[in-house]
Amino acid sequence: MTEKWVQGEVVSVKHWTDSLYSIKIDAPNVRFTAGQYTKISLNIDNEDVARPYSFVNSPDESLLEIYSVSVPNGPLSTSLKKLNKGDPIKVGTHGNGFLVLDEIPIVENIWMLATGTGIGPYLSILKTESSWKRFEKAILVHAVRFEKELTYQETIKELKEKYKDRFIYITFVSREKSKNSLPGRIPDSIKKGTLQEKVGIKMLPENTHVMLCGNPDMLRDTTIELKKIGLEKHRRRSPGHITTENYW
Ligand SMILES: Cc1cc2nc3c(=O)[nH]c(=O)nc-3n(C[C@H](O)[C@H](O)[C@H](O)COP(=O)(O)OP(=O)(O)OC[C@H]3O[C@@H](n4cnc5c(N)ncnc54)[C@H](O)[C@@H]3O)c2cc1C
Ligand SMILES: NC(=O)c1ccc[n+]([C@@H]2O[C@H](COP(=O)([O-])OP(=O)(O)OC[C@H]3O[C@@H](n4cnc5c(N)ncnc54)[C@H](OP(=O)(O)O)[C@@H]3O)[C@@H](O)[C@H]2O)c1
Repeated sequence: MTEKWVQGEVVSVKHWTDSLYSIKIDAPNVRFTAGQYTKISLNIDNEDVARPYSFVNSPDESLLEIYSVSVPNGPLSTSLKKLNKGDPIKVGTHGNGFLVLDEIPIVENIWMLATGTGIGPYLSILKTESSWKRFEKAILVHAVRFEKELTYQETIKELKEKYKDRFIYITFVSREKSKNSLPGRIPDSIKKGTLQEKVGIKMLPENTHVMLCGNPDMLRDTTIELKKIGLEKHRRRSPGHITTENYW
């Protein structure tokens, strides 16, 4: 499909750590559903370089926002990191992707499991008021290497204040000790039952839908564990419980 582009402008860049940053963009007429991504493009050495990025903002917000990690030697992510307020940036006009609530049945508990920057589309969904009609409880699980990578704490605090017991936020920190986080990785924790125990909710086929976003190895390993407890891949033609979005 040929990409249609609009010219946008960088409104602000927030650097969370040396490698993690968020960019707010002013761009006209970009349409998407919460949870989707679009392509972002920069002209680098006279060549247009484009990659997909999920929206972090709700479609109800006026500025677009992306959350990115600068990958060593990654052409676009290292260039995006150097942008400043007022710089031009091209944005695809339409959202794409199936990590959206319209694609899944209404469910009691929606589990949103992310590694790294994969938390972005879930924040878009959770910041969108109408999303909360499609589930009773949302369990947002963010897995990172280091504690400082547990970003967007302000947004999470606001969600907690607004939705109280309906919103559960759990973190994993894998490469250092972290007082309030689970150690290790998501799939191992599902296998041992420690994630479900920490949340206090069982993942049963009749009350569960799981969204997975980020590192493809996490998606693969977690899907294996979820299948062992009776959950199935969700497809339009054969509804199930697992929806995924690979970031590479
Ligand atoms: C549907 C979709 C949505 C995406 N949304 C986002 C997003 O919201 N935020 C974001 O940071 N990236 C996202 N990505 C990845 C993004 O498109 C780029 O690949 C990434 O920013 C690196 O771009 P690059 O040109 O620097 O390097 P690339 O040449 O594109 O990637 C080089 C390598 O970096 C690693 N890598 C790529 N992306 C990530 C990542 N997010 N976290 C950890 N390692 C990574 C992989 O090993 C990859 O092979 C998404 C990808 C897809 C397919
Ligand atoms: N994070 C940093 O400090 C940092 C700094 C600069 C650049 N980068 C670059 O950014 C890129 C991505 O780094 P990232 O830390 O955002 O993403 P990541 O490598 O995907 O790690 C995020 C989380 O996912 C976990 N994970 C990895 N494989 C998994 C699997 N199979 N199953 C379940 N969980 C799994 C990791 O656990 P483990 O720790 O056990 O792997 C970690 O907790 C890399 O190219 C990296 O070189 C990272």
